[in-house]
Amino acid sequence: MPDSARAEIVASPVFGRHLTDHMASATWTVRKGWRDRKVGPLEPFTLHPGTAVLHYGQEIFEGLKAYRHADGGVFLFRPEVNARRFAHSARRMALPPLPEEDFLASIEALVRADEQWVPLRRRRRQEPLLTPFMFAADEFTALRVPERAVYSVIAWPAGPLFPSGHNGVTLWISSRYTRSAPGGTGDAKCGGNYAASMAAQIEATEHGCDQVLYLDRTGGEGNLEEAGTMNVFLVTGDGLLVTPALGAILDGVTRDAVLSLAAEFGLTRSVGASRQADDGAARAPSKHPVRSGGGPLRLDAAGGVSARRFSSESKRRGRSNSTTVPQP
Ligand SMILES: Cc1ncc(COP(=O)(O)O)c(C=O)c1O
Repeated sequence: MPDSARAEIVASPVFGRHLTDHMASATWTVRKGWRDRKVGPLEPFTLHPGTAVLHYGQEIFEGLKAYRHADGGVFLFRPEVNARRFAHSARRMALPPLPEEDFLASIEALVRADEQWVPLRRRRRQEPLLTPFMFAADEFTALRVPERAVYSVIAWPAGPLFPSGHNGVTLWISSRYTRSAPGGTGDAKCGGNYAASMAAQIEATEHGCDQVLYLDRTGGEGNLEEAGTMNVFLVTGDGLLVTPALGAILDGVTRDAVLSLAAEFGLTRSVGASRQADDGAARAPSKHPVRSGGGPLRLDAAGGVSARRFSSESKRRGRSNSTTVPQP
């Protein structure tokens, strides 16, 4: 794309309207494993009408942003956590888990190729959204564990997701729809979850709201669970930071960072009891509903908060640096 056209888009991006110039990709077959790892110009896929994903929706994706720092370098925020979650989603959908180092290398290569799409620091919150995804690519219309999969990463110049911009969102609590159930796919980032959420989102839009706030109805009480594209926290007057436990919700990178940093902001973490084991097996509904304060203090997340950096200097040397902020 000509520099002037790109500059115009980067200056005022509209969410989802444009893509950057390149894409990363790789393919997997049951016989040869992962291969054909590359970054090249953005181009359409050609799919056979019998391709498995078109019939059974075996697809997963991720979302993370590339940020420009004050020194001109470009950073990613904890991409290794996205890599882990991508592998988790793959296992849940019977897709071949992509090795985490391949995930990270593909993101890094795309960011390097499209670095000019990362705006200057003064245009914060308009950073490109990188969306790695994978789908079952067997040209065989039968429901089975795939023997062929396609992985790709594309990037979008991203303006505000909601019409209200970056000033908060209005939430619609649906009494009709739920997002996940014990043993379901709520903790996987798969396309089907988002397709299934559209009816609830239409309801929210019809009522003038930006997004749906789903309730966990497994205990019959309707505790807060998760919004359509974000995890939920409440801050009480006496300094509790309350959030539902993992299990049936998405293990958000932001959620984990917020929990890790809570103490620095004088907040005490309160994570509700899990209603679903990590391996997806169903458990009894929460005995510590979130609305009552979440029960005993429990932190699901371990480890620090790290940022992965792609500075101009590291670009020249052909490698990236990692920094770690210790967990409070
Ligand atoms: C359903 C849902 N929950 C939570 C999140 C937040 O995840 P993260 O903090 O990793 O962006 C997302 C992000 O897309 C989401 O779709």
